[in-house]
Amino acid sequence: MSEVKILGIESSCDETAAAVVVNGRDVRSNIISTQIPLHTLYGGVVPEIASRKHIERINQVIAEALKEANMTLDDMDAIAVTYGPGLVGPLLVGVAEAKAIAFAKNKPLVGVHHIEGHISANYIENPDLKPPFLCLVVSGGHTHLVRVLDYGKYEILGRTVDDAAGEAFDKVARAIGLGYPGGPKVEKAALEGDANAIKFPRAKVNGSEYDFSFSGLKSAVLNYINGAKMKGEDVNSADLAASFQKAVVDVLTDHALHAIDEYGATAFAIAGGVASNSALRESVRKACEKKGVPFYHPSPILCTDNAAMIGAAGYYEYIAGTRSGWDLNAVPNLKLGER
Ligand code: KG4
Ligand code: ZN
Repeated sequence: MSEVKILGIESSCDETAAAVVVNGRDVRSNIISTQIPLHTLYGGVVPEIASRKHIERINQVIAEALKEANMTLDDMDAIAVTYGPGLVGPLLVGVAEAKAIAFAKNKPLVGVHHIEGHISANYIENPDLKPPFLCLVVSGGHTHLVRVLDYGKYEILGRTVDDAAGEAFDKVARAIGLGYPGGPKVEKAALEGDANAIKFPRAKVNGSEYDFSFSGLKSAVLNYINGAKMKGEDVNSADLAASFQKAVVDVLTDHALHAIDEYGATAFAIAGGVASNSALRESVRKACEKKGVPFYHPSPILCTDNAAMIGAAGYYEYIAGTRSGWDLNAVPNLKLGER
């Protein structure tokens, strides 16, 4: 089989990333320049600063990705880029860059959906994983339970009606003074805590068994902290982190189990930044084991934003014939399955 080489570019939030991926699963380079230390100063991503940093770094990141892969732009078969969803300014930097390269080098341009990228991260280290399967996508901006019917074909079973799972981690981390990004910090604090110490709600969304809601849980955490303050009591951050994390993990696992049963899933995968959380992984792994369903997850570096996942998704779009025009634009609220 001939080799299809894709340059993937990702800049939808606070990571400037480029990667060279061969045939969708063979990652030859995966360069990520994170802006996290910069945004930590402000307690979250500042879009204007993010856009400026992407502009400063993107050329260098792409050059490094090509160098590490020992290839040049001329070797590429296509340029794949995230065009949504995400922050409009940051997305535009990647889209403009990809268009310029594709135009100058006369290469096909393939716009990629960021969530399709997260899902496709699972293909990279799992050569046996092929659709159909179920995937739980949990990131800072999204919480989706998805049926992957085929490459590029998705049915969304449920989504969050308010905060995303990662967003809840970030907000709780801020409330207990752990800083941004909250997920890894809450996970670390939770290791020292008792997950059964504080009773937090496991929210159900009326009338739709696969939707998620995390704003009630977030409020319950804030109320608990305020209540303790008013009584002059200290909050045990470790117990709070562990109890909060367990509440999120329980709901995610419960929905996963339900979907596995209803759709007779033959494989289950998780994706997105929160998928690097060990408590979530262990819980979903156990649930899958109980059902006899193989469980897949990317390595942590492929869970959070990266361009290897865009190269993987871009490959399957490319071989399916997807091509974007020179009018490709950033679409901040792009829906999965739409083009
Ligand atoms: O996928 P991602 O890098 O960006 C988006 O597309 O949103 O996800 C970032 C999110 C942040 O909310 C971060 O707090 C969360 O993923 N996250 C985690 C962990 N690592 C990152 N949440 C829980 N546990 C973790 N270990
Ligand atoms: Zn993401």
